[in-house]
Amino acid sequence: MKWKLPWTTEETGKLPQHVAIIMDGNGRWAKKHKLSVSRGHRQGTETLREIIRHTDDLGIRALSLYAFSTENWNRSEEEVAALMQLILDFFASEIDELDEKNVRILILGDKSRLPEKQRETLIEAEKRTAGNTGLRLNIAVNYGGRAELVKAAREIAALVRDGSLSEDEITEETISDHLYTRGQPDVDLLIRTSGEQRLSNFLLYQNAYAEFIFPDTLWPDFTVHDYDLALDAFIHRERRFGGRQEAGG
Ligand code: IPE
Ligand code: IPE
Ligand code: MG
Repeated sequence: MKWKLPWTTEETGKLPQHVAIIMDGNGRWAKKHKLSVSRGHRQGTETLREIIRHTDDLGIRALSLYAFSTENWNRSEEEVAALMQLILDFFASEIDELDEKNVRILILGDKSRLPEKQRETLIEAEKRTAGNTGLRLNIAVNYGGRAELVKAAREIAALVRDGSLSEDEITEETISDHLYTRGQPDVDLLIRTSGEQRLSNFLLYQNAYAEFIFPDTLWPDFTVHDYDLALDAFIHRERRFGGRQEAGG
């Protein structure tokens, strides 16, 4: 049986082009079930698979997932090691299907600080899917929004220094073009699970006009149905971008 969209054609047309998700709550889920934190993260990857699949089924153009922040190095060695292992496991089990589904993978963040195996796996996934034209799947690993802006500033400064760009040619687009997400639409909808209501350094520039939704559900418990509810709430929001919907006074 063909999977059926829960929305009318008109509503489907209002789905976000770019969804960003801060997958939060693995630690609390583990605690609640008296399991190790690593087990919580592992459970979280099950949610991840479902959400990627559903995003692809819906025809959403881009999905950005926060997997590991520049600040997450501050966690215990054991937890960092478990998260690094999950990166390897995730790609080993998913890359064939993702590639088959025409998904293009992009890693957001500085890969140079990652262990060699992880770095190679991520580079390989990007290379293998570089020619794909379906869902843009951005996975943020060792990512920080401020670090991304510093990187952009340095690249732009180098262009000005070597004369290929003048100071007054720098526009908002110039900055967008020097972010990891260059060429992709800005984030339309940001979802952060677990009830926390903050950005934690995720896609600072790209989230400028995003709609925020903060479900209380912990990431390992987050279902496709919860995702549909968030998308449905988004569809019915009125986005103004600083303008006015109708003339009035
Ligand atoms: C989010 O879950 C996953 C990562 C940060 C990698 P947490 O581990 O932050 O879960 P809580 O916030 O402790 O519940
Ligand atoms: C943000 O979650 C990072 C990821 C989900 C990968 P954190 O749990 O690390 O963020 P804070 O510390 O609660 O802000
Ligand atoms: Mg957290």
